[in-house]
Amino acid sequence: MMTAIKQVTVLMVCSLVVCARGEFFTSTDKISQLFEEENFLLGTFSLYIDAEEEIVKGMKRDLLLLQLGTYLDPVDPEEIKDPVAAFKLLMRLRDEWLKIEKNTQNSLDKHNVYQILLEYAQIPQVEDLKGAALGLISLQELYKLYPHNITKETSLNANEAYVVGLFAYTEHKFQHAFLWFMYSLERLTEYSTITKEELLRYISDSAYHFGSIPVAIYFGQQLSNLDPTNNDVKVLLNQYRLLRFQRTSNPDIFTLNTKSSKYERLCRGEVDERTSRRQRALSCRYSTGGGNPRLMYAPVKEEVEWDEPLIIRYHDIISDTEIEILKNISRPLLSRSKTKGGVTKIRTSQSVILDEGHPVVARVNQRIADITGLSMESAERLHVQNYGIGGKYEPHYDEWNDETGRIATFLIYMSDVEKGGATAFTKVGIALKPKQGSAVFWYNLHKNGNVDLKTEHAGCPVLWGNKWVANKWIHKFGQEFRRPCSLSYWE
Ligand SMILES: *[C@@H]1O[C@H](CO)[C@@H](O)[C@H](O)[C@H]1NC(C)=O
Ligand SMILES: *[C@@H]1O[C@H](CO)[C@@H](O)[C@H](O)[C@H]1NC(C)=O
Repeated sequence: MMTAIKQVTVLMVCSLVVCARGEFFTSTDKISQLFEEENFLLGTFSLYIDAEEEIVKGMKRDLLLLQLGTYLDPVDPEEIKDPVAAFKLLMRLRDEWLKIEKNTQNSLDKHNVYQILLEYAQIPQVEDLKGAALGLISLQELYKLYPHNITKETSLNANEAYVVGLFAYTEHKFQHAFLWFMYSLERLTEYSTITKEELLRYISDSAYHFGSIPVAIYFGQQLSNLDPTNNDVKVLLNQYRLLRFQRTSNPDIFTLNTKSSKYERLCRGEVDERTSRRQRALSCRYSTGGGNPRLMYAPVKEEVEWDEPLIIRYHDIISDTEIEILKNISRPLLSRSKTKGGVTKIRTSQSVILDEGHPVVARVNQRIADITGLSMESAERLHVQNYGIGGKYEPHYDEWNDETGRIATFLIYMSDVEKGGATAFTKVGIALKPKQGSAVFWYNLHKNGNVDLKTEHAGCPVLWGNKWVANKWIHKFGQEFRRPCSLSYWE
């Protein structure tokens, strides 16, 4: 195909040289040259069409493969719940479309509409792919999942698994890298672009890095058998054999993440302090917000999730339609969430701060004011968040050293989450499951104004599902007379 294009280019240049001489009408001999010229042009045009046809054929083949891919692995982007399917989609978009971009660059068409379109298309960046792969790995770490566990619903092919392994490898997570490379090796087919040699090399190297020299030797030997002329491998194997006697550690590769924090155990559902406190008055009742007229006829169902600090769940405080509208106005505005240190790995979600002017936002604000009896005057605007693959927010306080003045937090769940995604109160030992339409409320400050250290909480990684929340941070200013009287049972 490329030779045809070159031929055309060369011919076109020559043709221009001939034409540039001009003045045909003054000589019959010159006119007779035109016959040759015409033949030449016809030949060139024919070659040009052949070249274009080659390109089109290639593009049609790519298109067919892509259509086949989306057909075999259909993904509804709005409804993406499976972190593995999400990774697959990101990788497909990135790899396949970049390949197509490269192919269409060869087109002879100067006004390559497709190239222009791709420039503006939202092709995932390497960062996205890396984030998705590391999201998978953090899920595996936290929920103790092997590659075959996490790919139960959606499997990865050899190339995809290799990419996950590679990101794990570059992050020095060698045990995970090892497992993903092994997974890739099992799924190697004639269509895989990754080779057995490459995988064996990485498997051996990962094993070496997490300190299992015998395993490194075993796979290094396999590689050497496959390619007996490779002297590098032989040298490496000799080094490993020497090291075998120096190192005594031979960690079991299947014991990942042995020491867990309370946060992790809470997220896995291994801890629930509520069971021991059941006897105490963790109750459920209807509230009228201390006699608020707007709630008199439609009382809010409230449930005490914890007594000290008081953490209350309000049920059905926002309708499905209102949630859909909030999501609809948030979607185009979502941007990567920031913590105090800017965009970090501590929080992996996208968020948007909504304009108070929207009628639904105003209605939700009013409802929060009615339920809590607190003034919304100095509160922050409604902060909507959608979590990504393995999306989480590690343990934190909403209020630091009296800096932000966030006296209380009203956290609205705008979706259910099938697996993971709980709000874990790490000092207390409870994990609250998101339930669409409900909200939890707590005070971040003691009445004396000190931060209540028991309010440390975290958003557990989302293992399966879509997590949407809206936060309302209520500030001190304006509450001087409200907190003591309208909510008398608050400490
Ligand atoms: C992962 O798979 C192993 C073996 O198949 C199984 O014993 C284990 O329970 C699975 N773990 C989870 C969390 O599903
Ligand atoms: C939200 O947006 C979707 C897609 O644009 C639309 O179909 C739906 O009707 C919207 N929902 C509401 C409640 O406005």
